[in-house]
Amino acid sequence: MNDDQARVLGGRFTFPGTALTVNRLGYGAMQLAGPGVYGPPRDVEGALSVLREALAAGVDHIDTSDFYGPHVTNQLIFRALQPYPKGLVIVTKLGARRPADKSWQPAISAQELTQGVHDNLRNLGLEALDIVNYRVMGGALGPAEGSIAEQVGVLAKLQKQGLIRHIGLSNVTAAQVAEAQTITPIVCVQNNYNLAHREDDALIEALARQQIAYVPFFPLGGFSPLQSSTLSSVAQRLSASPLQVALAWLLHRAPNILLIPGTSSIAHLRENLAAAQLALSPQILAELTSIGGTGRREKH
Ligand SMILES: NC(=O)c1ccc[n+]([C@@H]2O[C@H](COP(=O)([O-])OP(=O)(O)OC[C@H]3O[C@@H](n4cnc5c(N)ncnc54)[C@H](OP(=O)(O)O)[C@@H]3O)[C@@H](O)[C@H]2O)c1
Repeated sequence: MNDDQARVLGGRFTFPGTALTVNRLGYGAMQLAGPGVYGPPRDVEGALSVLREALAAGVDHIDTSDFYGPHVTNQLIFRALQPYPKGLVIVTKLGARRPADKSWQPAISAQELTQGVHDNLRNLGLEALDIVNYRVMGGALGPAEGSIAEQVGVLAKLQKQGLIRHIGLSNVTAAQVAEAQTITPIVCVQNNYNLAHREDDALIEALARQQIAYVPFFPLGGFSPLQSSTLSSVAQRLSASPLQVALAWLLHRAPNILLIPGTSSIAHLRENLAAAQLALSPQILAELTSIGGTGRREKH
């Protein structure tokens, strides 16, 4: 990764209290598993190429989980990218399991979390995991209040054993972040957020004050990518694609936002990475911000 690549990928961000610095525009690997995030992809070589292309373009932050597949995404990362280049930060998550019926079930006992760490280490071929997010399950529409102290305590123990370097959270409320911080430092939060889905506006500001990374999942809208007439109109004026504009808006939204858009396509990967080069004027930003101004989706 050279200086030019850092510049074109949104600049650099250091996770607080760590030696881990990444480009703000990274890559989310969930889309590399098979349909429904289950089983192997239809095109294994294509999936490996997407990962290699991401690194060649300067991506040094990959989001994954051993419950994507399960195991599939991590095994693809291992196969495509070993030996890992210096500076690559792989962020994984724990808290779920995927039974044969392809559902997503909580896996939150001490035994399951510990097993999850060992599964990630084995499948990624690592001796320690850079960052592990505790992904809170439940709450169909988003995070639901409730103590997470027990699970964060388990991860903190695994951290003391040297198996996890740093801890983050996913699908959490501000109160859960504060509770976790009484147990161990939190370096990132990964919640559902994009132009149209803006429930976390206040949380982003609070985390920015602590220089904690906010990493939106579904930055493009997830399984049904964002659609909005305002977004399309802005994109047309900027000669960009609507999804590029959606990513550029997130980069402008707050300095602690890191992006991990997901794709199984090299063409989409290139398009997404080019989004960091879009400059948005204050007027355009205001227009885009109004899409989620009421906190609601226009057409999603
Ligand atoms: N913590 C959590 O609970 C959680 C939940 C979900 C996801 N995540 C993480 O967040 C990452 C991002 O989320 P996501 O991948 O689910 O959703 P996303 O990034 O919002 O959108 C991915 C979808 O957009 C499509 N897409 C991507 N780039 C495109 C482009 N340039 N043009 C048109 N379509 C495009 C992808 O299809 P193609 O493959 O065809 O490009 C895919 O269907 C995941 O990869 C995963 O690592 C975390």
